Amino acid sequence: MSEAFDAVEIIGAKRDNKELTDPQIDWVIDAYTKGFVADEQMSALLMAILLNGMNSREISRWTDAMINSGERMEWSMLDRKTVDKHSTGGVGDKITLPLAPLVAACGGAVPQLSGRGLGHTGGTLDKLESIPGWRASLSNAEMLEVIKSCGAVICAAGAGLAPADKKLYALRDVTGTVQAIPLIASSIMSKKIAEGTSALVLDVKTGSGAFMSDPKKASELARVMVDLGTRAGVKTRALVTAMDVPLGLTAGNALEVRESIEVLAGGGPEDVVELTLVLAREMLDAAGIKQLMDPADALKNGAAMDSWKKMIRAQGGDPDAKLPVAKEQVQIRADKDGTLSSMDAMSVGIGAWRLGAGRSKQGEKVSFGAGIEIHAKPGAKVNKGDVIYTLHADDSTRFDRAQNALQNSFLISQDGSVAPRLPLILEKIEG
Ligand code: URA
Repeated sequence: MSEAFDAVEIIGAKRDNKELTDPQIDWVIDAYTKGFVADEQMSALLMAILLNGMNSREISRWTDAMINSGERMEWSMLDRKTVDKHSTGGVGDKITLPLAPLVAACGGAVPQLSGRGLGHTGGTLDKLESIPGWRASLSNAEMLEVIKSCGAVICAAGAGLAPADKKLYALRDVTGTVQAIPLIASSIMSKKIAEGTSALVLDVKTGSGAFMSDPKKASELARVMVDLGTRAGVKTRALVTAMDVPLGLTAGNALEVRESIEVLAGGGPEDVVELTLVLAREMLDAAGIKQLMDPADALKNGAAMDSWKKMIRAQGGDPDAKLPVAKEQVQIRADKDGTLSSMDAMSVGIGAWRLGAGRSKQGEKVSFGAGIEIHAKPGAKVNKGDVIYTLHADDSTRFDRAQNALQNSFLISQDGSVAPRLPLILEKIEG
């Protein structure tokens, strides 16, 4: 590879708050992906970007360079329009599970490349792997077969898709450089643009359980991502949504699959149903899909459930198999009469993670049955002795550490007051 630039000069330019040129960006991403720029040099550059930022031209070029590091998928052979959703991640966020088969039932084609959980947030692939036999890794040909026959596929991104992001994301994770808008936006959008979807709806989470806890920052991230998608010819829009309280009543892999199946059967918690329907309508509208039926009807009449079962079977899973259950359960009860006034999403995420639902380093095994089942949400009246939440774990030594994370997050007021909450949908941003 030609030594067109010197990594030290590029680091110095960003350290001194200068704009990087297009050729500098192309070179540094390519050279890093191929191993010619060392991890310590890229770490320094990432920190300079985190501290000094990038303008929209630099972010756009950085994203293109990451896309060009690998393959681009293409779906023109399908007779349906493609549309995808991406969530920036949260606690109890199982929406992809009912949403992908629901949009398929309504006439869309959903090529959903998903990830695994790291830290306090869960990952769609870990959740689905709790279904006996289900496979996350598919070849491109298998992915095409599943989407042709079922209208939706949820699987892991192959090694050939945005390999620069795989290396950069692992490096950001261990260098304290995850939380930078240009880096988050380019990481997410490089994968989504390379995936080849024609339309995309972004669910940008905000509140204590989200990457961007400040709604203003979440809105800024959403705007940057919508602009990147639009510039790349993807019909992109974003919703900024609440993650101050966990979504639904479960956090943990098999527990969340169970709740998703309740939604597909026409039931399930109100907030999960509402967000699923709002996102489904946005996806169908953004892609300009002529709807075969209304999403609410598809949940009620079994069409979304049929798509789900077909999709799970096509990926080797048994949709009717019993889901894993953790070996031990502990019920936590109200210590007084009153009103449940608050419940902190981050604490619930950390609690579920400590119970074994998540991993603390890449490659670790998760416990499929572990997690937290919530029996009352803020605003509910409770009596002393009522079960407020149940902890599930395979190993009883995990309960104390999980309970330490949780004990101050479920508060009961005796005057009926409830802590202020974010609305489920805060903002919509269009391209
Ligand atoms: N998800 C990603 O894929 N990348 C990020 O940087 C953050 C969340």
